[in-house]
Amino acid sequence: MNQAPRERWTGRTGFVLAAIGSAVGLGNMWRFSYLTAEYGGAAFVVLYVAFTVLIGIPVLLAELAMGRGANSSPISALGHFGGNAWKPGGALFVASGFLILAYYSVIAGWTLRYALVALFGGFDPDAKQYFIEISQGRGAVIGHVVFMAGTTLIVARGIRAGIERTSLILMPVLFMLICGLAVYGYTLEGAGAGYRFYLETDFSKILDAEVFSTAAGQAFFSLSLGMGAMMTYASYLSPEQHLPNESLVIGGADFVVAFVAGLVVFPLIFALGLSADVGESTLGALFITLPKAFSQMGIAGQVVGFLFFAALAVGALTSAISLLEVVTASAMDTLGWPRTRSALVFGVLITLLGIPPALKINILDWMDKLAGQLFLVTGGLLLSIFVGWVMKDPFSEVRRGAEHWPWFPVWRFLLRVPIPLALLIVLYSFVQKMFCE
Ligand code: PHE
Repeated sequence: MNQAPRERWTGRTGFVLAAIGSAVGLGNMWRFSYLTAEYGGAAFVVLYVAFTVLIGIPVLLAELAMGRGANSSPISALGHFGGNAWKPGGALFVASGFLILAYYSVIAGWTLRYALVALFGGFDPDAKQYFIEISQGRGAVIGHVVFMAGTTLIVARGIRAGIERTSLILMPVLFMLICGLAVYGYTLEGAGAGYRFYLETDFSKILDAEVFSTAAGQAFFSLSLGMGAMMTYASYLSPEQHLPNESLVIGGADFVVAFVAGLVVFPLIFALGLSADVGESTLGALFITLPKAFSQMGIAGQVVGFLFFAALAVGALTSAISLLEVVTASAMDTLGWPRTRSALVFGVLITLLGIPPALKINILDWMDKLAGQLFLVTGGLLLSIFVGWVMKDPFSEVRRGAEHWPWFPVWRFLLRVPIPLALLIVLYSFVQKMFCE
């Protein structure tokens, strides 16, 4: 086994920023906006908020408690609290990390490309054709490889020198960029229609099963739940931290960034009269509609476009780091490998796995549905059952650093009954949609 003592975060700020860095990413800016557009605006947002509060934050707390309690990554943590029979569950987490990072990095590669395009030359007015050309094939592979190389190097440097330092520098930059862009969106003439689309609720849509399950899936994806990222980060925590408060801070920050990203995207799209394009929204919509908007805005479009795609790339990087950290830490904890070897070997393997989705966007879409939705929700179901029913005394873990937290019974009850039931319904609907349509 690996004999080196486990690394620790320097302090609370380091951990919280890294965890927010994991949560805030393409999920907030790209996935959230395109799903909101596809599923009819505010109804989706309302459901997403409800799932974040009722399911996301309790499951996040469960992950933090497990990670800190076991002091290890998912496979060993499940073994620690549940015995060897539970270890294969941890393997599902590692598989999710593998699959998600492989396609996530391809999308991150697109954002790098767009940021460069904005800087040197400006956006192509035929944005759709441009996206079709760059999103698949050699260019996409190059973007993906560059992004994976950066991610791997940071993870190889370790918790403090790599992950923590990157988050400390990049997260404030990201917050400033996204808030600045939202203020800019507000100044645009015609932004009101965008706000209306985004914020006016049509409650009839809330009862739609597909909207319901997609919103739940998005809550998991956005909070980096169900695959052990938060658990792994918590394994580098010190015992005196107040985990329930940390869960609220992380969940709150994640929501705020997603919400503000909506305040950037929708005014821009509506102000430039591109809302029809939003109607036919799919995975690529943001990468088509926004560049089209930027291309009509002259030099301002280049500046704003650069800042927007730079923010996306930054968010993607701090999330990708956490995905690779799950795989790396698992290899360190279970195989006893040193960090550098684990990060490099798995960084390269994931880079290879990302080549098919970089060549064909259909594969990317499919991987997002399989791992980004199905696996994460399955992981969340497993976690809630595990902490709700199997773990002997989950509260003793939470209590360290949070002696007087009054919500323990509510938390446990949510994990035991309502959350597993809701997730089962969501899973059923995913499986039906994926395989029976
Ligand atoms: N939460 C990240 C995002 O919103 C994605 C992610 C999912 C990261 C799962 C880690 C684990 O972009």
